Amino acid sequence: MFLKKTVRDIDLENKTILLRTDYNVPLIDDKISDDYRIKQSLETINYLLSKNCKIIIIAHLGRPKGRVNDKLSLFPVAKRLQEILSKNVQFGIDCVGPKIDQLKSNLKPREILLLENLRFHPEEENNDLEFGKALSSYADIFVQDGFGVVHRAHASTSAVSQFLPSVAGLLLAKEVDTITNVMDDPKRPLCAVIGGAKIVDKIEVIQRFIDNADFLVLGGAMSNTFLKAQGHDIGESLYDKDELKLARDLIQKAQAEQQRRNFVFLIPFDGVVSKDPKENIPTRIVDWSSYVIADIENYPKKPPREDFQIKKDEKILDIGPFSGAFIAGGVQLSNTVVWNGVLGVTEVKGYHNQIGPYAHGTDLLIQAILGDFGNKPFSLVGGGDTVGYIMERGLSEGFNHLSTGGGASLELMAGHKLPGVEALLNKD
Ligand code: 3PG
Repeated sequence: MFLKKTVRDIDLENKTILLRTDYNVPLIDDKISDDYRIKQSLETINYLLSKNCKIIIIAHLGRPKGRVNDKLSLFPVAKRLQEILSKNVQFGIDCVGPKIDQLKSNLKPREILLLENLRFHPEEENNDLEFGKALSSYADIFVQDGFGVVHRAHASTSAVSQFLPSVAGLLLAKEVDTITNVMDDPKRPLCAVIGGAKIVDKIEVIQRFIDNADFLVLGGAMSNTFLKAQGHDIGESLYDKDELKLARDLIQKAQAEQQRRNFVFLIPFDGVVSKDPKENIPTRIVDWSSYVIADIENYPKKPPREDFQIKKDEKILDIGPFSGAFIAGGVQLSNTVVWNGVLGVTEVKGYHNQIGPYAHGTDLLIQAILGDFGNKPFSLVGGGDTVGYIMERGLSEGFNHLSTGGGASLELMAGHKLPGVEALLNKD
C-alpha cells in the first residue's frame, strides 16, 4: 500500500503547483522517438487542471552536466505536451532566474508552464538547497510525479520538499503501489525475466528473485557473464570481466535455492550467434548444452563438435529457440511475470518491418506474456529499452503495467527506499 499523501489527499483548488515529471524521453535528431513518459504524466496534469491549478512543470533531459549547448533542451517536450493536451503549454528558457519568476507570477489558473532542463544547472544533481528554494518560489504545493527519477536525491526530488508541502502525483502512486504489491505479495507462481546489458545494474534484483521467485530467467548480454562463469566458450560476446566471481556466487546461491525448494533457475542454453549485430550477416543457432547428449547417444551420427560451439569470432546476440520455448513454457505456468531487460539485440531492424534477426527471443517472450499460447499472467515490465521495444512494436495494450522507471523500478524491486518518495508527506 502507498503510505504517502497524494494529490487526492490535499486541497488543491486554485493553488500554484510545482510539478516534477520525468520527461527524460529518447530523442532522434531533436524528434521525440517515444512519448510514453509524456503520456503517462497526463492523468496528474488533468487532475490538477480540474482543480483550477496553475501548473509549473520541472523536469530533466539526459545528463548534460551544465548548459553546454541546447541539444538537451526540453522545448520539443513542451511542443509534444501541447499537442497531446490540445492546450497551450508555455515554455521557460531556464528553470530559475528573474525571467522565469516573471513567467511564474503571470500564470493564471489552468495555465501550464514547462521550465527548461533542470540539469543545465549542476545545483540540481548536487541537491542544492538554494536551488531547491528558487525552484519552489511562487508555488504553494510540490507534486512529485517523476517516478523514473525518485531514486535520485536531487534538488527537484529532495531539496524542494524542504520548502513546500509535498505530495505524490497519480503516476508515482500507481507505480510504487503496483511494484511493491507484486514484489511483496505476488500471485504465484512468480516468473522473473531479467535481461539487458549489464549485470551490475541488476545484481540486487537477481538476488531478490533468487529468494522470492518460482522461476528466474536470465537473458540478454548480461547472461553472457553467467555463461562465461560456467566455463562456456562465448567467442567475442560482450561480458563483464569484473563480475565473473559475482556471477559464480549468484549461480551457487541459485543452485542452493533449487535444492531447498521448488525453484527453477535458467541461464540460456542456446543462442543466435553472428560475427556482428548487423542485419545482412549470416547467423547460426548454437545449442551449447546438447553436445554432451549428442555425444552420448551418437544419434543419428555424431555431429561435428563445432556445431555446438560458438566460434572465436562470433557473438551471442539473442537467446536460441530452445531456451525461448522453455521460457514461454514457464510463463504459461505462471500467474505473475516481472520482466526487465530485453533478451537479445533488439535495435537491429529486420527487412520489411519484420522482427529483427536478434529479437525473436524477446518477441516470443512478449507473445507468451500476452497470452498467445493460452495462459495470460499479470505482467509488470520495467526498463527503458524493454518498454521502448514494446511501444515500437505497438504491443503495449495487453500488458498490465509498463513502468516509466528504469533505475527507479529496479531499486524499488530490490526493496530500497527511494529518496524522492521518502521526502513526501505521510498519510495521516
Ligand atoms: C531515467 O531515464 O531512468 C530517469 O529519467 C533518470 O535518469 P538518470 O539515470 O540520468 O538520473
